[in-house]
Amino acid sequence: MSKQRVLTGITTTGTPHLGNYVGAIRPAIAASERADVQSFYFLADFHALIKCHDPLLVHQSTREIAATWLALGLNTDNAIFYRQSDVPEIPELCWMLTCMAAKGLMNRAHAYKASVDANVAAGDDADFGITMGLYSYPILMAADILMFNANKVPVGKDQIQHIEMARDIAARFNHHYGEHFVLPEAVVDDNVAVLQGLDGRKMSKSYGNTIPLFLPEKQLKKSINKIVTNLLEPGQPKDADTSTVFQIWQAFATPEQAADMRKAFAEGIAWGEAKRQLFELINEQVGEAREKYEALLANPAHIEDVLQAGAEKARAQSKPLLEKVRAAVGIKKIQ
Ligand code: TRP
Repeated sequence: MSKQRVLTGITTTGTPHLGNYVGAIRPAIAASERADVQSFYFLADFHALIKCHDPLLVHQSTREIAATWLALGLNTDNAIFYRQSDVPEIPELCWMLTCMAAKGLMNRAHAYKASVDANVAAGDDADFGITMGLYSYPILMAADILMFNANKVPVGKDQIQHIEMARDIAARFNHHYGEHFVLPEAVVDDNVAVLQGLDGRKMSKSYGNTIPLFLPEKQLKKSINKIVTNLLEPGQPKDADTSTVFQIWQAFATPEQAADMRKAFAEGIAWGEAKRQLFELINEQVGEAREKYEALLANPAHIEDVLQAGAEKARAQSKPLLEKVRAAVGIKKIQ
């Protein structure tokens, strides 16, 4: 039986935080070790340009995200790990798909609609500040996915609509030009924790409530100390289920450790002590990877080599498929 092809992209805007680690990176690295799966993980740097026009940030984030995945032990013999912009077949396919994608479909994309709604609410022109990049974003994402005939695409809930659009576009292309693309499916894993941030809302760069994954020890400790708690004193029983400290603890703890901490909450553990233990737990689990991360960032040429090797593997697949697709639409040598 051929392997399931699992593909996901990481937009290169921002520094990886604990929420990214628990929600996406940790499960993706685990999945890439399965013998029945061929995984494709890539740095979506073309997607980064949609929301970030600061070249230094795009570049820095690309370097940090690559170093993070490698430091955490992604085995690049199993997983094909590449940078989107190193695979020129993707933007070319994107154009062919653009010519098959219904404009009406793009009008319905949540991300675009949210921007329009915000403009209207602010009394601005509906299209104020909206680029064609944002508008066409789902088509580039469809090209990422269809380029490698991915079966499964692990994503957050906010991305499900984009996978459905990729299916729609693929079906339309297949119907017109013949069967070239697999119809992908979104996979949303409900067992994976959506981590809470410092203020108790979902940990997200846009809320400014994140704890970066590889903060130096001292800063990690400081950051954990900033997690918002209630004002209950040491000795007063605390509710684990409504506590961000406990929620993050649970994402890193064994079931036994989680049960022990729940008991400690009921028995009135002091917030300072609970946070100290949380720091120890996380620090123990990320400490070794943090050292590798620092070493990788000190040797960017090595990161680049790994990405180039990944691009070569990716292109071994994208080139022949694009060749077929070109011929299918009538773009080929004159004969
Ligand atoms: N848009 C996705 C996000 O912001 C990232 C992404 C780009 C992606 N291309 C993809 C995810 C292809 C899955 C498949 O999270």
